[in-house]
Amino acid sequence: MKEKLEAIKIAALSKLSKCTNLDGLNDVKVEFLGKKGELTTVLKSLKDVAPEERPKVGQMVNEVRSLIETKLEETRTALAEKLREAKLASEVIDVTLPAKKPVIGHRHPNTLALEEVERIFIGMGYEVVEGPEVELDYYNFEALNIPANHPAKDEQDTFYVNGDILLRTQTSPCQVRVMENNKPPIRILAPGRVFRSDEVDGTHSPCFHQIEGLVVDKNITFADLKGTLAEFAKELFGEDTKVKFRPHHFPFTEPSAEVDVSCFKCGGKGCRFCKGSGWIEILGCGMVHPKVLRMSGINPDEYTGFAFGVGLERIALLKYEIDDMRLLYENDTRFLKQF
Ligand code: PHE
Repeated sequence: MKEKLEAIKIAALSKLSKCTNLDGLNDVKVEFLGKKGELTTVLKSLKDVAPEERPKVGQMVNEVRSLIETKLEETRTALAEKLREAKLASEVIDVTLPAKKPVIGHRHPNTLALEEVERIFIGMGYEVVEGPEVELDYYNFEALNIPANHPAKDEQDTFYVNGDILLRTQTSPCQVRVMENNKPPIRILAPGRVFRSDEVDGTHSPCFHQIEGLVVDKNITFADLKGTLAEFAKELFGEDTKVKFRPHHFPFTEPSAEVDVSCFKCGGKGCRFCKGSGWIEILGCGMVHPKVLRMSGINPDEYTGFAFGVGLERIALLKYEIDDMRLLYENDTRFLKQF
């Protein structure tokens, strides 16, 4: 019996010394101290030992058990400490390493172009206002003299929310809202997002930006419109920039025009930038249609006005010589930080 206990003790201690993790430790515990463990088996066989020997053998069993238990605990503590140290070592942070530079954002070319346009018109006494992006059909079309059967009303161009409500396709509804709520003299700039169901490509996007301008007062003439836009073009593209008014049609202005600026790249000689023509189209404009004035509560016999609509992306692309509109919407900081 004594030799057997000695053998158990040696086997247990040797296994413990080879334990490298907590699972292994548990296996040893089960093997030697568990209900079906070796020591328990010895205890069970105590009944075969001569009665006078039993207390002595019992005591020996207890000694071996408590020795194994003590060693087990010691090993557990040592193992836990070792694991903790390994974990700490693997998580070491070198606080002396140089920090990663945070990526700093940058003002978008659209924002820069808008700020420039706003600066120019604020300098001429304009006030910047905003209108809703989700608009009533009435303001986007009807009040702008675009009748119900107008091609621009086709679902293909307009995102409808329902029959009466849509995503504005232009910033011109701001004209109507301003005229309804203000008495002339009116001089406003209304920048904002507009929406059209266009496919995305290098020059189109279903969501882009326009800047609307509106002036209403007594004795406003086409000459005021020409002078204003000529000044705007010079401020934006340089002192030598010339403007050209081409007759056009918008239902809400009469007469209407599209405005080209002389190419600021080649000075009008013709280059890749202006596609050889020497001119670049930048906006639509005209004298506010008398019907539009009247519908908005302004007497066309007393007042006249002009309006214009600039495509913001167009200005940004031209000013910063970007040749694909999609770059404006990707917001890659490597691209943005160039401007
Ligand atoms: N709203 C017109 C467009 O989107 C532009 C415009 C604005 C024309 C104001 C005339 C006057 O094309």
